[in-house]
Amino acid sequence: MGRPWLFFAVSFALSLSAGLSWAAPDQEFDQGVDHKPVLEAAVAAAGSLLPAASRAHAKGDDVPVWISVADKDVSVLGEAFGLPDRPVILQGAGVSIYQARTAELDELSEAMHQKLHKCGGFFAHSTLEAAKADLEPAPAAAARALTIDQGAVVPAMVALADEPSITKTITRLASFKNRYYRSKTGTESSRWIGEHWKELSQGRTDMSVSLLKHSGWTQESVILTVTGSAEPEKVVVLGGHADSIAGWYGGEDATAPGADDNASGIAALTETIRIIVATGYRPKKTLKFMAYAAEEVGLRGSQEIAASFKKDGVAVQGAFQLDMTNFNGSAEDIFLITDHTNDAQNAFVGKLVETYTSYKLGRTACGYACSDHASWTKNGFAASFPFEAKFGEDNKNIHTAQDTLAQSGGHSKHALKFAKLAVAYAVEMAK
Ligand code: BES
Ligand code: ZN
Repeated sequence: MGRPWLFFAVSFALSLSAGLSWAAPDQEFDQGVDHKPVLEAAVAAAGSLLPAASRAHAKGDDVPVWISVADKDVSVLGEAFGLPDRPVILQGAGVSIYQARTAELDELSEAMHQKLHKCGGFFAHSTLEAAKADLEPAPAAAARALTIDQGAVVPAMVALADEPSITKTITRLASFKNRYYRSKTGTESSRWIGEHWKELSQGRTDMSVSLLKHSGWTQESVILTVTGSAEPEKVVVLGGHADSIAGWYGGEDATAPGADDNASGIAALTETIRIIVATGYRPKKTLKFMAYAAEEVGLRGSQEIAASFKKDGVAVQGAFQLDMTNFNGSAEDIFLITDHTNDAQNAFVGKLVETYTSYKLGRTACGYACSDHASWTKNGFAASFPFEAKFGEDNKNIHTAQDTLAQSGGHSKHALKFAKLAVAYAVEMAK
């Protein structure tokens, strides 16, 4: 029987190292170097970087992409992807930039999870210019006074959280063959989220839904805005990724229901929106609910959004990430991810759990930039990421055709806890 993917991973890594050595620029780069010739050389080399093994089964558009990886993760990724054999294009602040092609991103993501459940984080960028920003250390997020005093509003809203509603959304999202960022159903599934959020917010003049187009792929990110009544320029972000992924060969055709990863996060956010409308709650600050495209291939959708918010000087008060909420794998209920997140906001979210729920709280680390919260952190915004289980006790079926609701017992009792927490976060942050 064995593991064809293991054989393939090894031969793929070998073919990479063999095929790529010629492309290594024989200069040392640092922050002080004029990057222009390097940029030009890298762009020129991009046309022929694709190794034969990958070319054979590349599907759809296959274009150059630059990936930035924390140096400490290179060995983890390397096992799956042969990174150490690849020339480093640029280096700085404990981060290295490599070149790859979009067709390889699927394999990279897949390899990390299939290979002994090892994971590693990377950011993927369409241009080397965009990747270069990762060589600077992340700016610190502004310190904010985070208080809990909406006891007159939150409990009644939290009480409305409805498990069957969440199950309905998960079931619908998981019914797409996949929600892959470059597939037809990937586009359709995000459009379904947009339509559904529009239907939910009908009749509210302070609510609007937009589809955000990205330049490098077809799937759009979805953004629902609830405009603040008093300080609309201040923005609170609640998000999760809309896309799913599975399979070695061409994510476009793979069966990837992504029920837990991450229909469950989108469904909990959708339930929060439903409760806001059902209660007629109007935030003083602006709430933005986001279903990010292309998380599974390097946090690409959230990165574009967080970078543009930084560039435009948007006053983001905080970001709340839901990615995998419905697999009850540990003794505690809700785990706060401690890395690539903001300590002060995490303490606040922990207090929200204590104040408004009876759930048991834990803390755990991903160990790498494992989801979209890292995009907000990298751009200088405070992010928190409440997660379904202790890291390592989470759902082992993600990124396969078996990531179904049945793996969570056919219900959404665990995701319900995260919908309640999201309601509390939204109301206490947007007051
Ligand atoms: N939902 C996962 C992240 C995750 C998996 C967190 C298991 C905790 C436990 C996410 O969608 C994902 O797969 N992320 C990638 C990294 C990303 C940069 C491509 C991963 O973990 O390999
Ligand atoms: Zn995920």
